[in-house]
Amino acid sequence: MPEPDYTESNRAAWNQAAPYHARQQLDHLLALFSQPGASTLDATLTALLRDRVGLEGKTAAQLSCNNGRETLSLRNLGAARCVGFDISDEFIAQARLLNQTAGLDVEFVRTDLYAIPAAYDRSFDLLLITIGTLGWLPDLPGAFQVMARLLRPGGKVVFYEMHPILDMFDQDDTLTETPAPRHSYFKTEPFADQEGLDYYGNEQYQGPTSYWFHHRLADVINELLRQGFLLEWFEEYGHDLTNEFASFERCAALLPLSYSLIARLPE
Ligand SMILES: C[S@@+](CC[C@H](N)C(=O)[O-])C[C@H]1O[C@@H](n2cnc3c(N)ncnc32)[C@H](O)[C@@H]1O
Repeated sequence: MPEPDYTESNRAAWNQAAPYHARQQLDHLLALFSQPGASTLDATLTALLRDRVGLEGKTAAQLSCNNGRETLSLRNLGAARCVGFDISDEFIAQARLLNQTAGLDVEFVRTDLYAIPAAYDRSFDLLLITIGTLGWLPDLPGAFQVMARLLRPGGKVVFYEMHPILDMFDQDDTLTETPAPRHSYFKTEPFADQEGLDYYGNEQYQGPTSYWFHHRLADVINELLRQGFLLEWFEEYGHDLTNEFASFERCAALLPLSYSLIARLPE
């Protein structure tokens, strides 16, 4: 059997999810970004960017920016030039609408991460990777090669991601106070799912198959080192970023639910 076109199938699934997310979020975001200086970044990420990166005057990009709310926040928090890349036509359209409402100058580009044009190479001081980005990417070394070519020497990539330990559980496990793992942490086959991707409103619908790739933290760290990045910062947290596993924050035996990592290219 030929391998499915993971990326194209995921693009269709994300396009289909866009109006569902818009129903839950877009009016709120339009109102928020009509205020000067608005940001949706939480206190942890804001402090990390302020204290360990510094945004003032920096050129920044977000990979898999979705509706652009975080890319716009980077601009409002002081970054000079910002670009958001995402594969979904529909989410890029939402991002451009938010940018217009905010009166900002953030550029939003509809592209597969693996195909970001060479014109952006060595353009950025900072790349931001947030919640639910890595799991959509079938080829981790390939993704880090793209990051390495987009950054200027000395540039940093900041990850603020869901912890891959969450891939061991299903959504149903959030209904119990003592969740037990169902999937191996060492799983290598992708998860394939026909359920729609409305993790905000939880509206149920069938979609094109979406593919999710479990990447162990060891793979993330080792692949970054292999691509020549230097590890600057790593932290794990007991707070959930996904909206789907929030109930895990109340488990007596708390799991690591999210992490931050900063890696830098040599000068
Ligand atoms: C969970 S969302 C990221 C949400 C974002 N962190 C936020 O909180 O706004 C995942 C995004 O990855 C994008 N995506 C998936 N595969 C991609 C690829 N190969 N290249 C670029 N973007 C991709 C999807 O279109 C979707 O917008």
